[in-house]
Amino acid sequence: MAKGWTGWSMFALAMVLVCAGLVLWLTLGFEKQDHAHPPLQVNRLPEPAKSAGMSLAEALARRRSHREFSGQPLTQDQIAALCWAAQGISDLVQGFRTTPSAGALYPLTVFIIDPDGLHEYEPKGHVLKKLQAGDLRRPLQAAALDQPAVGAAPVCMVLTMDVSRLASRYGARAERYSLLEVGHAAQNVLLQATALGLVGVPIAALDESQAAKVLHLPSRLQVVYLIPLGHPAK
Ligand SMILES: Cc1cc2nc3c(=O)[nH]c(=O)nc-3n(C[C@H](O)[C@H](O)[C@H](O)COP(=O)(O)O)c2cc1C
Repeated sequence: MAKGWTGWSMFALAMVLVCAGLVLWLTLGFEKQDHAHPPLQVNRLPEPAKSAGMSLAEALARRRSHREFSGQPLTQDQIAALCWAAQGISDLVQGFRTTPSAGALYPLTVFIIDPDGLHEYEPKGHVLKKLQAGDLRRPLQAAALDQPAVGAAPVCMVLTMDVSRLASRYGARAERYSLLEVGHAAQNVLLQATALGLVGVPIAALDESQAAKVLHLPSRLQVVYLIPLGHPAK
């Protein structure tokens, strides 16, 4: 009899754990499903190389803003390394990322625009979700006060922030914290690009709402930086 009860209590405990896991998964896994676009395609990106490349000191010395690019496209490896530098998960146990975040609340979302379309980088799983087909680089250039670098680069990374993710904990400081995080991410990307032999430029002169419209972003996301990236023009 006692043995039977132990079996039932183990079963009940297992059910409670399964339900708790399900609730956690639903909360964390589906938190971003309110994007205007359900993904057309989900691609797992190659793991970024963590030991090859130039030293940090050399990347710091070499980084320079470039606004002209050769026509050579970026590889999946390069795009993966750039996304990982922006927001990749570097501690799989705790979920911490390559950039620091206030309270580890992670208010940033990274998008990649290339000739193929609009993609969102999902740090969990290190995947790129294709949200929209078609080349948005020219309309995005128009939103960036017509700066040619945006239309000319093979890839434009878009760094956006959701201040509401920090607002309940940090109140009036949430916007400043989020902007600081965008700065951390942008510098990581520019240094990673340099280490990969690529070039880019951080662009903040833009009409935020026009850029958000081009990308069909939900209203909670604000566009802060565009980073056109590519190979240097010969
Ligand atoms: C906040 C911020 C906004 C910027 N916005 C633009 C921009 O809209 N267009 C552009 O061509 N460069 C932009 N830049 C790049 C600067 O022009 C560039 O960093 C500066 O000329 C120094 O050159 P360096 O990056 O090669 O060191 C921006 C830089 C920062 C930090």
